[in-house]
Amino acid sequence: MGIELNVERFAGIRTPFYYYDTNILRQTLDAIKTEISKHDNYFVHYAVKANANLKVLKIINEAGLGIDCVSGGEIEQVLKAGFPTSKIVFAGVGKSDWEIELGLDKDIFCFNVESIPELEVINQIAASKGKVATVCFRINPNVGAHTHANITTGLAENKFGIDMQDLETVIHLAQSMKNVQFKGLHFHIGSQILEMDDFIALAHRINELQDRLEAQGIHLEIINVGGGLGIDYDNPLDNPIPNFKDYFAVYEQHLKLRPGQTLHFELGRAIVGQCGALITKTLYVKENAIKKFVIVDSGFTDLIRPALYDAHHKIVNLTGSQENRPAHGLVYDVVGPICESSDVFDKDIPLPPTQRGDLLALLSAGAYGEIMASSYNCRRLPEGYTSEELK
Ligand code: LLP
Repeated sequence: MGIELNVERFAGIRTPFYYYDTNILRQTLDAIKTEISKHDNYFVHYAVKANANLKVLKIINEAGLGIDCVSGGEIEQVLKAGFPTSKIVFAGVGKSDWEIELGLDKDIFCFNVESIPELEVINQIAASKGKVATVCFRINPNVGAHTHANITTGLAENKFGIDMQDLETVIHLAQSMKNVQFKGLHFHIGSQILEMDDFIALAHRINELQDRLEAQGIHLEIINVGGGLGIDYDNPLDNPIPNFKDYFAVYEQHLKLRPGQTLHFELGRAIVGQCGALITKTLYVKENAIKKFVIVDSGFTDLIRPALYDAHHKIVNLTGSQENRPAHGLVYDVVGPICESSDVFDKDIPLPPTQRGDLLALLSAGAYGEIMASSYNCRRLPEGYTSEELK
């Protein structure tokens, strides 16, 4: 069902490392393709910020998805993976000049523009190159999302996008510029969203905006609803494929597309989250009067989500559960080696009796795992391997 973790495959590989089950990734991509093949005007751009591992990117490119970048570095990485430049959308609240130049030089599909000053700079740089940049405006729809506060983006208090009240002003400004071509609107309300009502609220907001613009004779070619579909962190093994059917049905049922419009999605976590696990080794087990700690060789430098967002990644012991040990499990805190109290993966979780040398897997770590790793404490960055490499 879920990610396959065969401990024999991992013999001799330096821990910690990321492991990607390409069967899960391909099944996920197939599930998306099944849904979007029902519509010839739906396009999914994989949000590369979730995972930029080249081997993972190549599989996503083979599936024919487009790509959503938020930096020049991401554009360079996806070009290495072979993505066609005509499928790149480029978002980000602070694009540097060199990044805009790169996007223009590569003739990307669209810049998602987040402010008037940015629009002016894109127009200037495009003029200097004798080019015309295709632009959409990222609009802040003031729609909340039921998710962690650090990953909501669509509220007026968030730094993202252009205010709805300024919509006509920016569109008219763009229409007066020679080196940008205004094509549509872009939205993104947050990440790890499991309540379809949040996406329904976004669809309704877009309908209102479209009616308002249409009354003024402004037609949109592109509607981009961003990403945000969540995954099941609690039951990843039973439920590895996100609910794409319900997700796309929301837009089909609630968003009133006009003839000739294309609808774009930017899914990240839902595509790569469940195919990845962080594999780590138990260094020590230590006890005090109130706690048993499993101290592992990975820390928040390898997987920062628990420390940053109070996220829970299901932890399984790949070694202990297969050996002849006492049948009853114990309750542990699983912690890393970094000199900060927030370097804790989870507290008071049941595991089989765990010993030095046991391999543990932190599941659902394919999205915002490897890519958010850092070298704090001069630690090594984790490697990433696919199941096709480790046979
Ligand atoms: N489009 C835009 C404009 C975005 O800002 C994001 C994510 C996405 C698409 C993809 O969202 P997804 O489908 O993956 O939810 N590091 C955090 C998540 C940050 C998401 C940032 N933006 C985490 O580990 O939970």
